[in-house]
Amino acid sequence: MTNEQQSIRVNLCSSGKEKPQADQLAFGRSFTDHMFVMDYTEDEGWHEARIVPYAPLMIDPSAMVFHYSQSVFEGLKAYLNDDGEAQLFRPQRNFKRMNHSNDRLCIPPIDETFALKAVKQLVSIDKDWIPQAEGTSLYIRPFIISTEPFIGVAPSRHYQFMIILSPVGAYYEEGINPIKIAVENDYVRTVKGGTGEAKTGGNYAASLKAQEMAEEGIAQVLWLDGVERRYVEEVGSMNIFFKINGQVITPALNGSILDGVTRNSVIRLLQHWNVPVEERKISMDEIYQAYQEGTLEEAFGAGTAAVISPIGQLVWQEHMEINDGQTGAIAKSLYDTLTAIQYGKIPDPFNWIEKV
Ligand code: COI
Repeated sequence: MTNEQQSIRVNLCSSGKEKPQADQLAFGRSFTDHMFVMDYTEDEGWHEARIVPYAPLMIDPSAMVFHYSQSVFEGLKAYLNDDGEAQLFRPQRNFKRMNHSNDRLCIPPIDETFALKAVKQLVSIDKDWIPQAEGTSLYIRPFIISTEPFIGVAPSRHYQFMIILSPVGAYYEEGINPIKIAVENDYVRTVKGGTGEAKTGGNYAASLKAQEMAEEGIAQVLWLDGVERRYVEEVGSMNIFFKINGQVITPALNGSILDGVTRNSVIRLLQHWNVPVEERKISMDEIYQAYQEGTLEEAFGAGTAAVISPIGQLVWQEHMEINDGQTGAIAKSLYDTLTAIQYGKIPDPFNWIEKV
């Protein structure tokens, strides 16, 4: 039986948890009533798909994930449109990327069609947890952990695939106002051939030290390539774009940069608007020179959690103020258009929306 034919056992029971107030929503602090779980063993493959009440897990302390971090995750969101329907944004790309990460981490692939069915069923069960206030949504976190009780270094033979849901507001304290980021000069996030392109927890664990050492007020650090330490890669939780002299540029995917769904959507939108956009190597020297010449017009990040996040200040050699610290016109148009598509307020010419 393929996963696609498998049915999902459902055990509904509300925890009676209070829903967080929509105007006080932090990012990722509260979770809905239910979660999706599915097991993997070598003999049975992925099996026993179920939606059960959200609860802590019972897991062996020797489970391999605790020791060697064989795990992957994804992030996408569900939005409520004006007709009260829940809708997802390009979810197929997330499950495709999850399988790419699985491959890198030696985790067995999931059936992408079945995973989408599971997300839809889970979101429709907890639909009344989707917040309605502007800028809020239901963040969806699919993840896989290695669960075999064994402390030898080898790919695990048992896994759990889970999906949890979290009603969220803005990712950054600054909301959609410009943030300040600093170029990281001491630590590296990854190198080509490493795991940078995979969405795995270890990449984020490795990033924490630099974030902690960064000066007060820095929302995130900007990673440079791990070899020459010259070329821009990505920010902690998002991809990065610059606008120089009318042209938008973003680092080309090189094996160590995450292939962001929002990154791809930004490129597609800019092309659709006939705004020149290029994916290529970008050195910090080039950015600094553009700043000194007055041609660095905008910088912004793009990610599922962060949406479009304007960068008002970039620290490298000096504190570079970009666009007088204000949100630039391109970042604003991208934010307005992307969110309008996501919330179903304007037509979706790209067929990005998947109704639940
Ligand atoms: C996302 O944007 O969904 C991410 O996974 C980034 C982050 C919250 C780690």
